[in-house]
Amino acid sequence: MKIVEVNRDNLQQVIALQLDDSQKGLVSDNVHSMAQSAVNTSYQPRAAVVDGKVVGFVMYSEWVDAEWAVIPRPREYYIFRVMTDKEHQGKGYGRKMMSMVIEEIRSKNPKSIHIGYCDENKVARSFYQSLGFVEYGRFDWGDIAAKIEYCE
Ligand SMILES: CC(C)(COP(=O)(O)OP(=O)(O)OC[C@H]1O[C@@H](n2cnc3c(N)ncnc32)[C@H](O)[C@@H]1OP(=O)(O)O)[C@@H](O)C(=O)NCCC(=O)NCCS
Repeated sequence: MKIVEVNRDNLQQVIALQLDDSQKGLVSDNVHSMAQSAVNTSYQPRAAVVDGKVVGFVMYSEWVDAEWAVIPRPREYYIFRVMTDKEHQGKGYGRKMMSMVIEEIRSKNPKSIHIGYCDENKVARSFYQSLGFVEYGRFDWGDIAAKIEYCE
């Protein structure tokens, strides 16, 4: 697997990724995410590519310069979109993709990485806990908030 920036060559594949009907609403659709990334320069959209094919999508941002970053928190990062195409779920791609994105963020010397999920999303909850995220409360918009903290 490779994690690459979303660009003109892979955009079509990114927006063609789909969730199962039962998962719709757990994460914004990728067209919406890409539109947001066009007007938020801190947003970092990434495609997970396996054998030349896009299988998943992640977007993160430093906690600055966004409408939800009311009080900027430099060097804190927030992963706010994670999805694997419905045809490719359960193959280990989500775990690999998240590990690689966390490594990418780690190279920026973060203080912490935040993630959020709604109460119904039990799969995301146990998946993120297994990656080391620890719950600490809720975001202002209601999602459960979890984070990985790094020593200075
Ligand atoms: C969460 C998600 C990204 C995981 O992607 P994936 O490619 O299926 O992930 P993996 O195959 O690497 O599996 C990761 C873990 O989740 C578990 N898992 C994945 N799908 C599951 C399911 N439907 N039911 C129960 N557990 C599941 C796996 O067992 C695995 O745990 P393990 O490694 O201990 O066995 C994917 O289910 C998804 O896109 N969900 C819809 C969107 C979403 O909820 N995004 C997160 C919003 S916060």
